Amino acid sequence: MSTSLTIARPDDWHLHLRDGAMLSAVLPETARHFARAIIMPNLVPPVVTGAQAAAYRERILAAMPDGSSFEPLMTCYLTEDTDAADIAAAHASGLIKAVKLYPAGATTNSASGVANFDNVRDVLEKMAEIGLPLCVHGEVTDAEIDIFDREAVFIDRVLDPIRRATPGLRVVMEHITTKDGADYVLANDHDLGATITVQHLILDRNDMLVGGMRPHYYCLPILKRGHHREALLAAATSGDTRFFLGTDSAPHPTHAKESECCSAGCFTAPNALAILAQTFEKAGALDKLEGFISRHGPAFYGLPVNADTITLTKSDTATIFPAKIDAGEHTVTVFDPGFPVYWDVT
Ligand code: NCD
Ligand code: ZN
Ligand code: ZN
Repeated sequence: MSTSLTIARPDDWHLHLRDGAMLSAVLPETARHFARAIIMPNLVPPVVTGAQAAAYRERILAAMPDGSSFEPLMTCYLTEDTDAADIAAAHASGLIKAVKLYPAGATTNSASGVANFDNVRDVLEKMAEIGLPLCVHGEVTDAEIDIFDREAVFIDRVLDPIRRATPGLRVVMEHITTKDGADYVLANDHDLGATITVQHLILDRNDMLVGGMRPHYYCLPILKRGHHREALLAAATSGDTRFFLGTDSAPHPTHAKESECCSAGCFTAPNALAILAQTFEKAGALDKLEGFISRHGPAFYGLPVNADTITLTKSDTATIFPAKIDAGEHTVTVFDPGFPVYWDVT
């Protein structure tokens, strides 16, 4: 017996495509299912200016699979040297849809991020004025703050002060991982949204650490306690339009994950939608899936919902996903949720 669900084609509001051979390898995995994605700018060196975002967009379009109409939605990486006028021009031309804030040192390729928030005040004010959203990696980097507390402390010490000081600034809390994050969104207005990843909806820190350490479950912000996962699932399945999918699919070569110092990131592009369909079904919330993956994101970003559709189908036999994909001389290991998945995009 099969069950199927036809919904507006989804978008991914937080995606890493990288560059070069990795870009060519991973782009088809997203373009197959998603119409659009917010493309993260944490390349080495980062995508800081409008000109760099335009050049990166051209490289993505050149790597596109034949016949694909996937649309990369570009972002610029906020640094203390970012020029507000350059950002405003990139927004006015339609090139960029958001600016990305990485606290310096918080995550993969974030060394050029912001250390002193006073130095980006003019850019944030310009963004509030023109309605350009700020996407935030919300973790403090202070050595004395425990890694499991870094999101909650960021909200109190950095995010809330920035939002109070910049009325009208639209903010997306990227990849929220805690009940604190979900509660902060709920306690605020519709200028504040949040993306949630697949892994944070289905896994907690025990899944990563009990019985052996699983490097392919290591991402930042790190998986938290089970009650945080439950709060995220409740938010995602609530139908509240402030929560939407950002997979944070973040490919790293297999050797960099299975290493003495594992890189942070889960590569979920190939099976994100199948896992989500199963997760929402299990939560009794299949009717809320389309909002979370296809409708709330466009509403936040002021873009139309995609006109075409996809069909998700559940069958009696588990779907087989590739264990790895080839990326130039390396492979990338596909995220394994740790349970059989019966859904697929058909
Ligand atoms: C991301 C990456 O690999 O670029 N890694 C991750 O663990 N999420 C960076 C990020 O989104 O923080
Ligand atoms: Zn991040
Ligand atoms: Zn990311």
